[in-house]
Amino acid sequence: MADFQNCDSCSSSPLELFERVTAQGEKVRSLKAVKASTDEIDAAVKLLLSLKVTYKTATGQDYKAGSPPVNFSPVSNNGPTTTQDEDFVDPWTVQTSNAKGVDYDKLIVRFGSSKIDKELINRIERVTGQTPHHFLRRGIFFSHRDMNQILDAYENKKRFYLYTGRGPSSEAMHVGHLIPFIFTKWLQEVFNVPLVIQLTDDEKYLWKDLTIQKASDYAIENAKDIIACGFDINKTFIFSDLDYLGMSPGFYKNVVKVQKHVTFNQVKGIFGFTDSDCIGKISFPAIQAAPSFSSSFPQIFKDKEDIQCLIPCAIDQDPYFRMTRDVAPRIGYLKPALLHSIFFPALQGAQTKMSASDPNSSIFLTDTPKQIKTKINKHAFSGGKDTIEEHRKQGGNCEVDVSYMYLTFFLEDDDKLEKMKQAYTSGALLTGELKKVLIETLQPLIAAHQQRRKQVTDEMVKQFMTPRKLAFEF
Ligand code: TYM
Repeated sequence: MADFQNCDSCSSSPLELFERVTAQGEKVRSLKAVKASTDEIDAAVKLLLSLKVTYKTATGQDYKAGSPPVNFSPVSNNGPTTTQDEDFVDPWTVQTSNAKGVDYDKLIVRFGSSKIDKELINRIERVTGQTPHHFLRRGIFFSHRDMNQILDAYENKKRFYLYTGRGPSSEAMHVGHLIPFIFTKWLQEVFNVPLVIQLTDDEKYLWKDLTIQKASDYAIENAKDIIACGFDINKTFIFSDLDYLGMSPGFYKNVVKVQKHVTFNQVKGIFGFTDSDCIGKISFPAIQAAPSFSSSFPQIFKDKEDIQCLIPCAIDQDPYFRMTRDVAPRIGYLKPALLHSIFFPALQGAQTKMSASDPNSSIFLTDTPKQIKTKINKHAFSGGKDTIEEHRKQGGNCEVDVSYMYLTFFLEDDDKLEKMKQAYTSGALLTGELKKVLIETLQPLIAAHQQRRKQVTDEMVKQFMTPRKLAFEF
C-alpha cells in the first residue's frame, strides 16, 4: 500500500499533496483513537512521514497543518529521498554528512520498507533449519519488503525465485559489490531455488561514456566474478540485457507492459530524470523491473506467471523496485519481495559507498595482497586517537572506524569480532593492530576469489548465460 501511494504522489500537484498529507494525518489519529493494531498504525505513520518528505521535496516547505502551500519551489528533482540535512540515497549516489554513515532507520521510514527484526531472523532460522547468515545476524541486511510472504509460501511448499544483478560499468568489481552476491548464494543454498542475475550492460551504455562493445565485454568479465562466488550452474541463469532482450519475447512483453503503466512524471519523481536526459534512461527502469516477473523467463518457469520473486540488493536499488511493486498488481503480477543491505563504505569513511571509478576509495577483486595492505594502511579512515597515549587512555571509536566496519562484513567469527570491538574501544588495541587484522582477513579472501575466478572458463560463462531450463520443475 505504501509503495502505491508513494509513487502515486510523485505526479500529484502541491495542493493535492497537501490534502493527502492532511487526510493521512487524520487517518493516523483515527486509527490511534480506535486502538487499531500496532502494525496498522505503524504502516499509516510510515506513509504519513513519506508523504511529508514528498511534500517538502515538491514545495521546498515543511508541511504545516492548516497552511496550504504558497510560493513553493521544489528542493530538487531527485525524488523523495533527500532533504538538505538528510542522507541522499539513489541508484547512483550515496551521500551523508554523518561519519557513522547513512541513518538506515530513517531510510526505512522514508522508503516505507520494514526492518529485519529479531523475530524475522528467528523465523528464517526456523523455516530453513539453518543458522542465519552473519549478514542477517549483524544487521547488514537490515530492511525488507514482504519477506514474511515469501516464508509463508515456502512453508506451504510453494517455490519462489531469486533475482539480483550488476551494472557492468568497469572490468573490476569492488568488494562492496560482493555483498549481495555472497548473500544471494547463501539464500540459494538454504532455500534451494532458481536464481536469475541481470547484467545491465544497456544501463551502463546509456549512463556512462562507454561503447556498446565495451559494456558487453564488461558484462562478461563481471559474470566471471559473479560465477566465482560459487553459484550452482544448474540453478542459475545469468543474462546480459543487450543479448537476452533480443531473444526473449516473454521478457520484452513485460518491459512494454511496465512502460505502459508508468508515466514520465512518475519516473521523474522517483529517479530525478530531467527533460534533457536521453529517452533510453527514461525507459530503462522498465528493463530492471521485468525480471521480477516469472513470465520473463518461460524457459525456466514455463507458462507460470505467479512464481514470486525475492530480490536481494543494497538499498540504493530500491527506487527501481518501489516502481516495480507499484506497477505489478496493475499488470496482473505479484509484487516482488526484497531484502536490502546497508552499504559497504568507502575507505575514506562511511559518508559514501565504495565507488568503482575511484581506485583509492575501494578494494578491488583484482587487487594484489600488497595493494590491499597499502590501501588499508594509507586510506582506511580511523576512529583511533591522534597519539598512542591518548588512544590508550580514551580508546577508539568503532562507530566511525572503517577497518572495524569492514571486519563486521568479513570476519565471520562473532567472538573474535566482539573481542576486537572491546579491545579497540578500551584502547588496548591500536589502529595499526586493527588494520593488520583486517589486512590478514581480506588478503586470503580476495586471493581465494581470484583463484576461483581463474578456474571460470569461457565455456562455463556461456553455459550460465544460455537461456535454458534449470534443475527445477514448474
Ligand atoms: P551495481 O552494479 O551498482 O551494484 C551491484 C549490486 O551491488 C550492490 N552494491 C553494494 N552493496 C553494498 N555496498 C556497496 N558499496 C555497494 N555498491 C553496490 C547494489 O545494490 C547491487 O545489488 N542497476 C544495478 C544492476 C541490477 C540489479 C538488479 C541490482 C539490475 N537488476 C536487481 C540488484 C537487483 C546496478 O547498477 O548495480
